[in-house]
Amino acid sequence: MQEVLFLVFLSLTSVIAYDNCPKCGTMDVPYPLSTGDSCGNPSYRVYCNNGVLNFLSATGFYYKIQSIDPSASRLIISPPVILTNTCMSSDLSLGGLTIDQNSPFNISSRNTVMLLNCSEGILLSPLNCSLSSPCRVFERGVGEGRGCGDTLCCSYLKDSSMTSHRIRARVGGCSAYTSVVDLNPGDVNFHAWHYGIELQWIPLT
Ligand SMILES: *[C@@H]1O[C@H](CO)[C@@H](O)[C@H](O)[C@H]1NC(C)=O
Ligand SMILES: *[C@@H]1O[C@H](CO)[C@@H](O)[C@H](O)[C@H]1NC(C)=O
Ligand SMILES: *[C@@H]1O[C@H](CO)[C@@H](O)[C@H](O)[C@H]1NC(C)=O
Repeated sequence: MQEVLFLVFLSLTSVIAYDNCPKCGTMDVPYPLSTGDSCGNPSYRVYCNNGVLNFLSATGFYYKIQSIDPSASRLIISPPVILTNTCMSSDLSLGGLTIDQNSPFNISSRNTVMLLNCSEGILLSPLNCSLSSPCRVFERGVGEGRGCGDTLCCSYLKDSSMTSHRIRARVGGCSAYTSVVDLNPGDVNFHAWHYGIELQWIPLT
């Protein structure tokens, strides 16, 4: 009986090994992430474009994958760039980041999202739009944020009470955003901030 179990175990591990996708550029693509039909689990689709691993939003925008932590079922994508001398995220015309409701991925609760160049209406919502909000630090200190200087900005910690499938950007709302993973409250050392949007996926059991 033990031998049978051992054989079953061996064949399972070899299936998993076979199912791993090849590296994309220099980055490992751990199971269940899948860059094509012949490897990984197709529900966990990511895209290898010219050696760069990308996450595709529901609206068709590619976000570069910075890092993957398969043991925690998490990955971090780069926030969209803010176009030079503007305060517009490169995914603005698509409404920001949208993940399909039926996708196994969602936005984790370790992201401090900074909404930039917001209209006054945003003040009604429960956001930190004060002069001490970390988004002010971003606007003042980081080159990419300068186009957003002196506009209304707000930040919030993405938590489980909010939609975990969307970070909204729109003309007449907030036209740009960025995100910092695992930001300690009061940490104004923006050089050391980890800019990214952390996603998590439903682990395979
Ligand atoms: C906004 O964030 C700053 C920095 O973390 C904090 O000191 C301040 O109390 C927050 N204000 C509000 C209204 O939450
Ligand atoms: C800020 O947003 C408004 C629309 O909401 C837009 O017209 C304006 O160009 C944006 N500012 C910058 C600096 O991009
Ligand atoms: C996001 O995904 C994680 C992992 O699958 C899950 O535990 C969590 O409940 C999801 N959050 C929401 C708000 O759907």
